[in-house]
Amino acid sequence: MQAVVFDAPGDESVLRVDEVPSPDCGPGEVRIAVAAAGVNRADLLQRRGHYPPPPGASEILGLECAGSVLEVGRDVTGVAAGHRVMALLTGGGYAEQAVAPSGCVIPVPDALSELEAGGLPEVFLTAFLNLFLLGGLEEGATALVHGGSGGVGTAAIQLAKAAGARVVVTAGSDERCRRCLELGAEAAVNHRSQDFVAAARELSDGRGVDVVLDCVGGPYLERHIEALAVGGRLVVIGLQGGGHAELDLARLMRKRLTIVGSTLRARPAAEKAEIIDAFSDRFTEPLAGGRLRPVIDRTFPFEQAATAHRALAGGEVFGKIVLVPGGGAEGQRGQGAEGTRGKGAG
Ligand SMILES: NC(=O)c1ccc[n+]([C@@H]2O[C@H](COP(=O)([O-])OP(=O)(O)OC[C@H]3O[C@@H](n4cnc5c(N)ncnc54)[C@H](OP(=O)(O)O)[C@@H]3O)[C@@H](O)[C@H]2O)c1
Repeated sequence: MQAVVFDAPGDESVLRVDEVPSPDCGPGEVRIAVAAAGVNRADLLQRRGHYPPPPGASEILGLECAGSVLEVGRDVTGVAAGHRVMALLTGGGYAEQAVAPSGCVIPVPDALSELEAGGLPEVFLTAFLNLFLLGGLEEGATALVHGGSGGVGTAAIQLAKAAGARVVVTAGSDERCRRCLELGAEAAVNHRSQDFVAAARELSDGRGVDVVLDCVGGPYLERHIEALAVGGRLVVIGLQGGGHAELDLARLMRKRLTIVGSTLRARPAAEKAEIIDAFSDRFTEPLAGGRLRPVIDRTFPFEQAATAHRALAGGEVFGKIVLVPGGGAEGQRGQGAEGTRGKGAG
């Protein structure tokens, strides 16, 4: 099969398409003919040699995909050849075929194209895990989400809104803020020119927000302590600004705050399956109704994976990029995401 590979870590130019052996489909696993594979910021880190795959995972990039089932391994029930599925992967998405544990496979609802579904599992499950399971976000509560313009952020806005919570986001331009508002955020702050603490306080009637979803890290820690309500939760999922900061623990105690750090990829398959079950229990209905859908900014063929990585690194993307196997048109915008574009997000 064809896959996007690289011989040694480096810049985008190391990526190339080559013939590689198809992955084995073992007991409890599902082999998928990949129609679309989401590109994530973590892929850029892995390509540069900073985020190696966990032991036993495919060396091929790609944390999510969608397509149709080719084969199921022994002991797999509820999934059969020909079913449209999307999958949360520990690696291997940038390939014509990918293998996932059956518990990490989700049916693609009719309301979604496979192109859209290819950009769903990693970002929606990350947003769900961290906002709801770890952050305890509830109906009527408030959240501050950084990077509302990104893959995880655009998912977080939609999930929070569907759950009846209120969200203030940050994004890197006024235009990107506007698009976050169209997607369902109640307030949006340009992180290059405005103060998100003031916006967080305003959204929560001066109380502070209940949850912060943090993909920036160190430089924001002090302001997060300020922005949180008493009893609030700070969930750290990314360190785009760096991992170090000083914290006055007295302030943490006075406000009775919780700080949680979390990753999704390294969790055992059984834990991921539990997260997926919880997500499905809660959000299958809006997903089936087309009210939750990844914001696909553009699609690229595998041959242009380097261009896709450059676009994501350059901050050009609102929402997600997906890669598609085979030739196909170059850099098409908003493919298969008509509903999303209608909301001004594609
Ligand atoms: N721990 C986990 O399990 C997990 C899983 C998935 C992703 N992540 C992390 O979550 C983050 C988002 O992932 P993604 O795939 O959504 O990436 P993405 O699509 O590239 O989005 C990155 C987002 O970060 C925002 N950002 C960058 N610097 C910022 C700053 N100083 N203040 C506020 N926002 C800032 C960007 O906003 P603008 O471009 O508008 O400036 C953009 O929306 C990444 O750090 C990723 O590594 C963690």
